[in-house]
Amino acid sequence: MKPTLSHLPSLILILFSFLTFCTADVPPVANLTFYGVWITAGPDAILTKFESTITLPPGSPDPSPSNDVQAFWPGMETAADNAVFQNVITNQGGGAGEWYLLPYYCCNPAKPLADQMRVWPGDTVKNVFSLDLPTMKWYNNWVVTPGPQGNAAGQVPFGGGFVFDPSIDTLTHGAPYTGALLTIELQDQGTWDFGAVEWSNVIVEANTTDTEWCSNGPTGGSNWKWSASKGTYSTSDGNLTTCYFASVVLESPDPPN
Ligand SMILES: *[C@@H]1O[C@H](CO)[C@@H](O)[C@H](O)[C@H]1NC(C)=O
Ligand SMILES: *[C@@H]1O[C@H](CO)[C@@H](O)[C@H](O)[C@H]1NC(C)=O
Ligand SMILES: *[C@@H]1O[C@H](CO)[C@@H](O)[C@H](O)[C@H]1NC(C)=O
Repeated sequence: MKPTLSHLPSLILILFSFLTFCTADVPPVANLTFYGVWITAGPDAILTKFESTITLPPGSPDPSPSNDVQAFWPGMETAADNAVFQNVITNQGGGAGEWYLLPYYCCNPAKPLADQMRVWPGDTVKNVFSLDLPTMKWYNNWVVTPGPQGNAAGQVPFGGGFVFDPSIDTLTHGAPYTGALLTIELQDQGTWDFGAVEWSNVIVEANTTDTEWCSNGPTGGSNWKWSASKGTYSTSDGNLTTCYFASVVLESPDPPN
């Protein structure tokens, strides 16, 4: 999929990051880098669901993860790009080559939303964010299915979830989410050395009758490699459009051929 430059400003504004504390006293994160694609039906179309399944890449060969933050996540952000609700997979919190699932909120306040959970390369993590319209609260549910490495380590399938109220945000006061993101995030000396990150069955539901955002999406950077299958959609309730991408792959930091 050829990204269009006209959509780039919205990605540049994603300055909010997991593990970032957005107070004036804390210096900005060094070398904060994103490789992401996003799906949005525009600033007025609120998201009502965002579902995706990630197959975890191999662990990074990096021997010292402490200053080398490597992460990737599905998440949703507000139209003003000033908050993100995300299920981060990060290398932080354990030994070299390990991944952890960490639901997180950024930024007013920035905080973990659950205990971090060990996951293994080859596991699949299905993540479903869904909005309860009467209360405007979000359900965040995940299901982890071990792959060969997780099985060998004695991991069993598990799931979890919680209800999140975005009105706790002291800046956005619960402004709706309008952008769905699938992104790699690096900080400090972290590099993208863990190979392709593959998502499947990506579903975004938005309160709109417009469908072009689906057929034309997702949008992403033009200076690195990613690919996505063609978006297909269905409509319901007269005002909801559900968009489906069979796969979205963040391939490599190398420039496209
Ligand atoms: C930022 O990246 C540069 C180049 O890789 C590296 O030398 C530097 O140590 C990094 N800064 C921090 C704080 O990790
Ligand atoms: C969904 O869109 C319709 C039509 O634009 C609007 O009337 C309605 O308030 C929207 N619902 C929400 C929850 O934003
Ligand atoms: C779609 O419109 C109906 C009728 O106006 C409304 O009850 C419903 O909340 C709307 N859906 C969303 C997601 O806003």
